[in-house]
Amino acid sequence: MEKNKIYNVPASFVSNAFIDEKKYQALYKHSIDNSDEFWAEQAKEFITWFSPWKSVQSGSFDKLDMRWFLEGKLNACYNCVDRHLEKRKNQIAIIWQGDNPDESLTLTYAALHEKICRFANVLKNLGVKKGDRVCIYLPMIPEIAIAMLAVARIGAIHSVVFSAFSSDSLKARILDADCKLLITADHGVRGGKNNPLKDHADKALEKCPNVKHVIVVKRTGAPITWNKERDVWYHEALQNANMECPAEKLDSDDPLFILYTSGSTGSPKGILHTTGGYLVYAAITHKYVFNYSEGDIYWCTADIGWITGHSYLIYGPLLNGATTLMFEGVPQYPNFSRFWEIIDKYNVNIFYTAPTAIRALHKEGDQWVKQTSRKSLKLLGTVGEPINPDAWEWYHRVVGDDRCPIVDTWWQTETGGILISPLPYATPLKPGSVGWPFFGISPEVVDEQGQAVEDGKTGKLIIKKPWPGLMKTIYGDQERFKETYFKEVPGCYLTGDGADRDTDGYFWITGRNDDIIKVSGHRIGSGELEAVLNSHPAVAESAAIGIPDDIRGNIIYAFVTTKSGIQPTELLKKELIQKVRDEIGPHAIVGNIQWAKDLPKTRSGKIMRRLLRKIASDELTDLGDTSTLADPGVVGDLISERKKIK
Ligand code: WTA
Repeated sequence: MEKNKIYNVPASFVSNAFIDEKKYQALYKHSIDNSDEFWAEQAKEFITWFSPWKSVQSGSFDKLDMRWFLEGKLNACYNCVDRHLEKRKNQIAIIWQGDNPDESLTLTYAALHEKICRFANVLKNLGVKKGDRVCIYLPMIPEIAIAMLAVARIGAIHSVVFSAFSSDSLKARILDADCKLLITADHGVRGGKNNPLKDHADKALEKCPNVKHVIVVKRTGAPITWNKERDVWYHEALQNANMECPAEKLDSDDPLFILYTSGSTGSPKGILHTTGGYLVYAAITHKYVFNYSEGDIYWCTADIGWITGHSYLIYGPLLNGATTLMFEGVPQYPNFSRFWEIIDKYNVNIFYTAPTAIRALHKEGDQWVKQTSRKSLKLLGTVGEPINPDAWEWYHRVVGDDRCPIVDTWWQTETGGILISPLPYATPLKPGSVGWPFFGISPEVVDEQGQAVEDGKTGKLIIKKPWPGLMKTIYGDQERFKETYFKEVPGCYLTGDGADRDTDGYFWITGRNDDIIKVSGHRIGSGELEAVLNSHPAVAESAAIGIPDDIRGNIIYAFVTTKSGIQPTELLKKELIQKVRDEIGPHAIVGNIQWAKDLPKTRSGKIMRRLLRKIASDELTDLGDTSTLADPGVVGDLISERKKIK
């Protein structure tokens, strides 16, 4: 595939666009040159403030004291729901499609409002106050949106934990944020399988003494264990709750949520987003990147347990008064047409998914797509990992019938919203490129010394200036915030990704530069994996890396050294793979384990992961500089062991 193949904007569509290429260039320049003016305009347009801000921004990447819309007062829930009631009371806010094709429901803005208010009162009656952390461990059911918005309504902070996470992962997140209440369901349902969420929650809570109440949504009604002192049924509590609940007036800088994500090292980080900046950024990016127009049916397939679900299934679309679709299931159940059937059922106009899903469905052949109409589609989006041009072409040609622009959106949990993406109709598209920066975003590609590289050269992707959607800090760990993102290139935000920019200004993401592994778009840290492996009594040491995979983007490959006297066996391999799955979650799939007599370490004791990646991917022609290895002999051993398992 030619790298610079360009898909021009189809002329018939240009009239639908908010902006064209020229307007993009002008507005982008304005957003960078007159940042305060630009963001003031956007904050007025996209958000209803109880009282206006006194200044647009303050602070810098040097001091790490950035703040947005200072002293402005607002409420996230009010902006997502209440302010729309006058015009959209009877408009559908959420379409819910169950895992079972026959199960679905809709919630109008008025119905959503009523449920949120009642639930907010339930929370208040259980003692939740402004600033308290509430953990939400729910599957993809409407109650997850109701819970998040009810928490935001009373000024508490939600911490959503992906429902596929294990009880250990849940426990660690509850403890780190010191949550005082947990909202969960009896079971989750996905792909025809049951996930015993309440059991996981019970197990996690054995070690979380500060969680005094658990609110349980009845999803399947299958039996669960019940703790009378602690557990409350959601539906019973809601019935008895008052529906009057004014939205708390919060400061722009008050926290809205914490969302845990994997880092290169150590335990997952609680990314903290505040209210004003995050909401302005989620709303403006949702409107422009998806060219969202009044009446569009919008579907983002991401799970709400990840940032894409927060920003582009809940906050962005609801801020813009959209109808957002929430799907409980998976693309391959009951068959590979599932996504396309849902698009036809609801006449979806905008569809946003991940490369891993596109690749998995591409593999099954075109017939699953072609047996559906998809004529409602106007725009396609992708996120989470680089999309290979082949998958892009298929998405464009087969799914979008050659008529829908694709927005390949690059961003991170930390960035709050999309930072680099084509704008539909304004950016001619290049398959595999994430296009141009969004308004107000100043990306640069730099070398090891932090100097900008020439166009076409690969380097580290950094962002030079603050923008409203950027996280506030890592919850409870400002030092780690500073170390992780601002130390390597002082005065700039380090993304951790590699990239190059071509001479047309298009960005191309090459993947992570650090030890974060993206498996099917899910972010997993090498450190977390190694901690689980190393805790097995037979393991002395381990190193986990990601290696390329056609469908999942990357798979986990682990090198493991057993304790002396312990014989490595196939049984032990299976046990270790299962242990990772049990302790992190089923998305942490270890694809392969290679036994290693020793790991390649530098003289200062650092594992040379670059070398491990080469060995695991059989790229043996150029192993790079191995002169700093404490024992160069380990390389030969690792290569011969790799040959044995191929
Ligand atoms: C990767 C997901 C290439 C990247 C929103 C980033 C991408 C990490 C793209 C953040 C894309 C995300 N093309 N790579 N369009 N989008 N990534 O925090 O490596 O789960 O740093 O946020 O995903 O993952 P996270």
